[in-house]
Amino acid sequence: MSDTQFDVIVIGAGPGGYVAAIRAAQLGLKTACVESRATLGGTCLNVGCIPSKALLQASEKYEEAAGHLAAYGVQVKGVALDLPGMMAHKDKTVDANVKGVEFLFKKNKVTWLKGEAAFTDARTVTVAGTAYTATRGVVIATGSDSTPLPGVPVDEARIVTSTGALALDPVPKRMLVIGGGYIGLEMGSVWQRLGAEVTVVEFLDRILPGMDGEVSKQMQRLLGRQGMRFRLSTKVTGAKATKSGVTVTLEPAQGGEPETLKTDVVLVAIGRVPHTAGLNLEAAGVAVDGRGRIAIDDHFRTSADGVYAIGDVVAGPMLAHKAEEEGVAVAEILAGQAGHVNYDAIPGVVYTAPEVAQVGRTEEELKAAGTAYKTGRFPFTANGRARAMNATDGFVKILADAKTDRVLGVHILGAEAGTMIAECAMAMEFGASAEDIARTCHAHPTLNEAVKEAALAVDGRPIHM
Ligand code: FAD
Ligand code: NAI
Repeated sequence: MSDTQFDVIVIGAGPGGYVAAIRAAQLGLKTACVESRATLGGTCLNVGCIPSKALLQASEKYEEAAGHLAAYGVQVKGVALDLPGMMAHKDKTVDANVKGVEFLFKKNKVTWLKGEAAFTDARTVTVAGTAYTATRGVVIATGSDSTPLPGVPVDEARIVTSTGALALDPVPKRMLVIGGGYIGLEMGSVWQRLGAEVTVVEFLDRILPGMDGEVSKQMQRLLGRQGMRFRLSTKVTGAKATKSGVTVTLEPAQGGEPETLKTDVVLVAIGRVPHTAGLNLEAAGVAVDGRGRIAIDDHFRTSADGVYAIGDVVAGPMLAHKAEEEGVAVAEILAGQAGHVNYDAIPGVVYTAPEVAQVGRTEEELKAAGTAYKTGRFPFTANGRARAMNATDGFVKILADAKTDRVLGVHILGAEAGTMIAECAMAMEFGASAEDIARTCHAHPTLNEAVKEAALAVDGRPIHM
């Protein structure tokens, strides 16, 4: 095979693309991955999951040291914020991760084609003036970009997307966040912990619209207790950056009296849109749906023979682990195997304090579908480990089918909810009943015992409540 001919060409080296490329190479396919960024890892590793978690972790430590350790009998004096030091921790974390992917490419003999890929036809892509062909298929994994908001021009200094919000300096005195979703609450939490007064403006009448209603209500209360302010059912109609700050115009979501507000930094976090610009999809005959997402069937096949798509650029939750699962599945399909993703068991986690985690259906979804279900709840106030950790906020809620007892959804609000949800996702993957979880021995004392107790509560027999 010549240097310009591969079995598989993957476009984009984010969690979807790099995982697809590695899995394809593991299966013996000659694989190239095209990436236009200077480093591998996509949005997630460069300007998404990883840097935001580095700052969430660091800001939580700062807040703990500055105010929360006294509750454990630990007196800390002279706590000071070293913002450049915190940013250095973030940069070091990103660097180690993106270099890790480069190492994995070398280890698995994946060729990194550096530059922007554009289709010439369904089997040929051009990168930096050279045409490359793929005999088995091309996988589009080009990810997503922040959704722009008309009238709110981003300059990544005063009016920022998540990318600018990862690198603010100094800490703004006031920050207005547009959108009470994943990014708004995570990045809002970071800057609030570092001293900013944060106001979240949300179009809908609740934050975290995709999450279970009970969880989102309780979460708003807890964030409110931390000082975060909320303006629900409100829309931002314009923002103008000046030298001294930003003037923002708001009005009720359904229209009404406008009002003006002064702030120092505005974060626009109203969702993300698929990234297909520059791909020349028409040349390959790849169709997009009404929302600009590449249309695929159950096997990730686009409208063009031999072209596949995965990750944020297709429908479904815009989450790194969803993209990764699709990456594995599409590579296995390209190798002639039966790759598959179970979309009913994809967890979602908001890494605030406390964390919010869910897998499966929400109560609202079950009600809308007319599914008869039973509910088991267990609060962390009744969990010994949570008390020892001073982390008694929140609860576990398990929703199980009323007839079969099969777990349909799990919702956790609490410390380390994102880690705890893994056992629930596995239970759902195995088609477990609430009784299966209830009869599984959980180590004591752990936060996970609250999952077991919630499962017992589905049948009305929790022990510790
Ligand atoms: P991406 O990661 O976006 O990668 C696509 C890559 O394709 C990019 O590197 C881009 O440069 C490249 N590309 C695009 N077009 C071309 C082209 N024509 N030629 C060559 N290369 C091209 N998800 C989680 O699960 N957990 C989290 O904690 C989390 N935190 C996040 C925090 C933030 C601030 C943001 C913005 C997102 C976060 N996400 C998180 C979402 C997560 O980043 C995405 O779901 C994930 O990155 C999608 O992976 P992907 O491979 O589809 O695309
Ligand atoms: P989001 O979809 O999570 O939240 C956007 C919020 O903005 C919603 O609550 C929506 O109702 C609101 N909104 C929309 N238009 C608005 C308007 N004009 N005015 C006010 N509010 C408006 O999107 P977000 O936070 O931008 O994140 C994008 C995606 O990135 C997430 O959906 C998620 O898939 C991914 N992500 C995942 C993380 C994680 O897994 N922990 C962390 C960060 C991002």
